[in-house]
Amino acid sequence: MHDEMGDLPDLTLPHPSVRAELEQVAVTVAQEAARLIVDDRPRALGVDLTKSSPTDVVTVMDQRAQDLLSDRLAVLCPDDGLFGEEQGGRAGTSGITWVVDPIDGTVNYLYGIPMYAVSVAAVVGDTSRPGCWRPFAGAVADPERREVFHAHTGGGAWRRRGASPPVPVRVSDCTDLGQALAGTGFGYDAARRAAQARTLVEVLPQVRDIRRGGSAAVDLCLFARGALDCIYETGLNPWDIAAGWVVAAEAGGLVGGMGDLGPTRRLTWLCTPGLAPAFPDLVRSATGRHLADVPD
Ligand code: IPD
Repeated sequence: MHDEMGDLPDLTLPHPSVRAELEQVAVTVAQEAARLIVDDRPRALGVDLTKSSPTDVVTVMDQRAQDLLSDRLAVLCPDDGLFGEEQGGRAGTSGITWVVDPIDGTVNYLYGIPMYAVSVAAVVGDTSRPGCWRPFAGAVADPERREVFHAHTGGGAWRRRGASPPVPVRVSDCTDLGQALAGTGFGYDAARRAAQARTLVEVLPQVRDIRRGGSAAVDLCLFARGALDCIYETGLNPWDIAAGWVVAAEAGGLVGGMGDLGPTRRLTWLCTPGLAPAFPDLVRSATGRHLADVPD
C-alpha cells in the first residue's frame, strides 16, 4: 500500500497477550503521572515556555510529568521508543513506541479548570509520518475525577473509578445528526483558529450542540462512554489522540480523518456507527472548504 509519503510501515499489532500487558503498563504509569501533577502542583503555577504560539503553554509540571513517564517506561519497557509532547523522546529497538501527553488540557490545568488528563499509548509504525502509525493499547488518567479509561485492541474499553473494578464502556446509540452532541477543539495558531471558526459555523446548525472541553484526550473518553456522540478537530497531534483513539475504537466508535489514512493533523473525527452516513461527510467537506490553505 502506498501514500503520497512513500510505503506504509508495518502496522502488524503485537500478540494479544502483549497488548493486554502494555495496557496495564499504560494504566500504571498514567496514574502515577496523574498523581504527580495534582500532588506536586506548585501553589503559583507559572508558564515556563510557549511553543507554537504565545497561548500554547508549557508548565513545569508538563515537563516533570513527561520525565516521570519517560523514566518509568525506560525501566518497564527498555526496548521501546518514546514520543511525547514535551522534550525528551528516544528511539527504540522493539518496533513499539510510547506516545505520551503528560498533561492534555494544559490551559485548563493552568487555570484550575478540572478537565485535563495524562494520555499514554503504545503504538506501532512511524509517529513522524501522518497516518503511518496505530495505537494498540492505552490509558487516559483523569486525576480530578480519580478515573482512568483504558483499552487494548481486541480487549474492549474500560473505565475504572477510584478503587472500584473496571466497567466496560460503549459509545452512544445516536443515529440522528440533528440530535448529536458534538465535541471539538481549537488550535493555538490564529490563522487555524479563524478557519476552525468558519468550519464551526457550518457544523453547529446541523447538530444538537457543541462542547469545547479543552482536552482532546478527555473528549475521546467522553465519546467512548456515550457522553458525546461525535468529535471533530483539525491540528490534533499523535499524543493528543493516541490513547483515546484505542479506547474509543474499542468502545465501538468509528475513527477517521480526511482521507483513508485515519486521523491526521488535517482532520480527526469520531462518531457512533449510527452517525457514519452523515457526520464524516459533513466535517470532511467543511474542513476541506475552510482549512485547505492552512498549513499542517
Ligand atoms: C490541546 C487540547 C485541546 C485541543 C488542542 C490541543 P494540550 O492539547 O487537547 O483540547 O483543542 O488542539 O492542542 O496543548 O493541552 O496538550
